[in-house]
Amino acid sequence: MRAITVEGGRRLRGELTVQGAKNSVLPILAACVLCGGVCRIRRCPRLDDVETCGAILRHLGCRVCRQGEDLLVDSSGMDRWDIPDDLMRRMRSSVIFLGAILARCGRAELSYPGGCELGPRPIDLHLLALRRLGAEIDESGGTLRCRGEGLRGTEIVLSLPSVGATENAMLAACGARGTTVICNAAREPEIVDLQRFLQKMGAEVRGAGTSTITVEGGRRLRGCCHRCIGDRIVAATYLCAAAAAGGDVCLKGVDYRHLSTVIAALQQAGCRIVSRDRMIRLTGDGALRGICPVRTAPYPGFPTDAQAVLMAALLRSEGTTMFVENVFQSRYRHVSELARMGADIRLEGRVAVVCGVPRLRGAAVRATDLRCGAALVVAGLQAEGTTRVEEIRHIKRGYGDLAGDLARLGAEIRETEI
Ligand code: EPZ
Repeated sequence: MRAITVEGGRRLRGELTVQGAKNSVLPILAACVLCGGVCRIRRCPRLDDVETCGAILRHLGCRVCRQGEDLLVDSSGMDRWDIPDDLMRRMRSSVIFLGAILARCGRAELSYPGGCELGPRPIDLHLLALRRLGAEIDESGGTLRCRGEGLRGTEIVLSLPSVGATENAMLAACGARGTTVICNAAREPEIVDLQRFLQKMGAEVRGAGTSTITVEGGRRLRGCCHRCIGDRIVAATYLCAAAAAGGDVCLKGVDYRHLSTVIAALQQAGCRIVSRDRMIRLTGDGALRGICPVRTAPYPGFPTDAQAVLMAALLRSEGTTMFVENVFQSRYRHVSELARMGADIRLEGRVAVVCGVPRLRGAAVRATDLRCGAALVVAGLQAEGTTRVEEIRHIKRGYGDLAGDLARLGAEIRETEI
């Protein structure tokens, strides 16, 4: 089993190019089945979740191969519409294949998705959207059996701007005759990137980035080449690491506007941040102060995926900071692990109050999900002594080389066999 070992106390210095966005490339890989041709995904990060998508695509009869930073998907040979349960359980994004397969094959069979345990994660809005388009869905025995030969464009109103439900509706609507309007759609940058990809395949999709997305379905789609956006949550993780450890770090290849709320929070905590176009530079001495309450919300609000790493950066801050987790019911599993390092965090339901402490000490801790793992590494960078983060399989799902990247910035960190 592998772990990440960190010796705390080193400042971070240098420049890094941020990987392609996990939460953009996963729905894009699902969308590849819509065209029946060859798609080249540039800057496709090397992640376990990308491997899982590859395994699903191969199971469906597609050919998948990597050429350096690019992933090529040829879906001309697709001859199945089912996904095995073990592949579905490996990640949440497996469910995004449902809309794509339905649009391509008129039928689909799969089980409920897995993914990070962040409290209840129902797919009722996904199924509502597909049923609105005319799909018949039988949910018995833990399997979703879906028929949708004659999908028809319609209005879909989401009760909350779910990222996944918006993506599933966009993909299924590409295979529906007529116009679909998705109201109260998610506005994340990854949704905009998916729209750009679909447009390159010849789909008529507009409005991504706003709450109303319109899809003119039934267009014949073709293969294309697409470069993914930079991963704003990986960038947020490295900025929080630099803020906590102190130093001078420059990130390239990510749009600073995609993480403006994270940048504003770190500036409030005392960091100097200069950003323009596709560059963000943070300088700081590691002495942070408590900030105004951080309330997570759908984009453009503060991203729930950056909540844990910002919390970890503020553990030694002067004063207190209140966090309110509004997107997921239980996304504080990192708190008890951080407490093993001497953190002082008071929890009450969806509210966590971080009371800054003078020092942290290294400890053996365990990642319970992807962003928890990253937060434990950020805490380890500022702790006295050695921190060993176990269960890093969670981290590998979303970070191409967390330890390697931080080592390139001067951290005393490495992956070890335990
Ligand atoms: C996406 O998950 C991201 N994953 C998550 O990132 C991210 O935390 C989340 O959006 C919110 O920003 C990917 O893009 C692969 P949602 P998703 O549907 O699509 C409820 C990470 O760390 N809901 O917007 O699952 C749901 O329970 C991951 O990279 C329903 O009630 O998020 C949650 O409380 C973790 N019914 C809220 O909506 C539904 O049918 C937001 O979920 C769907 C969702």
